[in-house]
Amino acid sequence: MINISRPQIGEEEKAAVLKVLESGQLAQGPRVQEFEEKFAQWTDTKYAVATSSGTAALHVALLAHGIGLGDEVITTSFSFIASANCVLYTGARPVFADIEPDYFMLDPRKIEAKITSKTKAIIPVHLFGQMSDMDPIAELAAKYNLTIVEDACQSHGARYNGKKVGAWGTACYSFYPTKNMTTIEGGMITTNDPKIAEQARLIRNHGSPKRYLHEIVGFNFRMTDLQAAIGISQLAKVDRWNEQRKKNAVTLTAGLNNIPGVHPPLVRPGSEHVFHQYTVRVTQRDAALEKLSHKGIGVGVYYPIPIHAQPLYKKMGYQDHLPVSDAASLEVLSLPVHPALSQYELDTIIDAVRSLAE
Ligand SMILES: Cc1ncc(COP(=O)(O)O)c(C=O)c1O
Repeated sequence: MINISRPQIGEEEKAAVLKVLESGQLAQGPRVQEFEEKFAQWTDTKYAVATSSGTAALHVALLAHGIGLGDEVITTSFSFIASANCVLYTGARPVFADIEPDYFMLDPRKIEAKITSKTKAIIPVHLFGQMSDMDPIAELAAKYNLTIVEDACQSHGARYNGKKVGAWGTACYSFYPTKNMTTIEGGMITTNDPKIAEQARLIRNHGSPKRYLHEIVGFNFRMTDLQAAIGISQLAKVDRWNEQRKKNAVTLTAGLNNIPGVHPPLVRPGSEHVFHQYTVRVTQRDAALEKLSHKGIGVGVYYPIPIHAQPLYKKMGYQDHLPVSDAASLEVLSLPVHPALSQYELDTIIDAVRSLAE
C-alpha cells in the first residue's frame, strides 16, 4: 500500500520530546515561545501565536479581528469544513463564493457580488499547497475595507508572485499529521499587527494577560511544549520536504500527461506550489478511485461534498448554487506526493493511473 501521507518523525523529534518530558515543563512554556519565534522568522512575519489546532487558529484570528454576531465572512465552499465553521463559532455567517475551475480556489470575479454591508472579512483558502489569487482578492479587500484571514492550513511555505503566505494580513496554519509539517495536533497564527497578536494571545488563554486575571472571554486553545518541540524539529526540515514534494509532483505530471480523462494539477503562473496534495481531475472519478485503491494506491477525495451542501449547512438553510465547486467535488482525486515516496513508488502510481485508460 502506498499511503497518501506518511508523517516524518525522526530521531530529532524523539529526542526533543524526551527532553521536554524530562524537563518537568510540559504545557505551554519556553518551547512554544521558541517555536513561535522561529515560525515568525520562517514566514517573514513579526508575530506568531501557537494554538491547539488549525481550527482554533482560524477561530482565534477571526475573534481577534473583532468578527462576531451579525457579520458576514466570504470564503470558499470547496475546502475542509473548518474553513467555514470557524466563522460560525464567532456568531458570524459564512458566505460562499464559487471557485476557479483551474486551481479550485476562491474566484476573485465571484467575490464582489457576495459583498454586502455586513461583510467584514474574506478567508481565502490556499488549497492543496497553492495560494489563492491574492492580488485581485487584496484589491477587493482594500476597496471594501475588509480583513483578510488567510487559511494557510495546507500551504506552509507557498508563495504568490514572490510573496510568502501571511503577506496579506493574518494567516492561519495547521500542523495535523498529514500536513507538510506536523506537531501532531497544533496550529499557528501569523500577523504583522502587534494588536492582533496581543488579542490572539489573550483569546488563546482564557482572556488572561497574567495568572488569574481575566479581561475578556477566551478559550483554552494553548499548544503544549511537547508539540512545540516536535514543531521546532519539523520546521528545520520543511523546506527540504517541500522541495521533494515539488520534485515528486514534476515526476508525476511528466508521467501522467496525455491520459484521456485525467488532468494533472495546474500551477498558477508566478506561484510556488508546495504540493500538500497532488490533485488530478478525473472524469470517471469514482471508478478510478476504486481501481486505484484496489491496486494499493492510497488515493483521497478532498472534498467529496462542498461545505454548502453538507447536511449541517443545508439544515441552516443554505441553498447556494456553486456549479464550479459542485463539479470539482465530483472529479477531484488526490494521489500520494509526500516526500517519503521512492522512485519505485512514484513509478507504481504513474503505471496504475495510466492503466485507467486501458
Ligand atoms: C483548509 C483547512 N482549513 C482548516 C483546517 C483545520 O486544521 P486542524 O485540523 O489542525 O484543526 C484544515 C486541516 O485539516 C484544512 O485543511
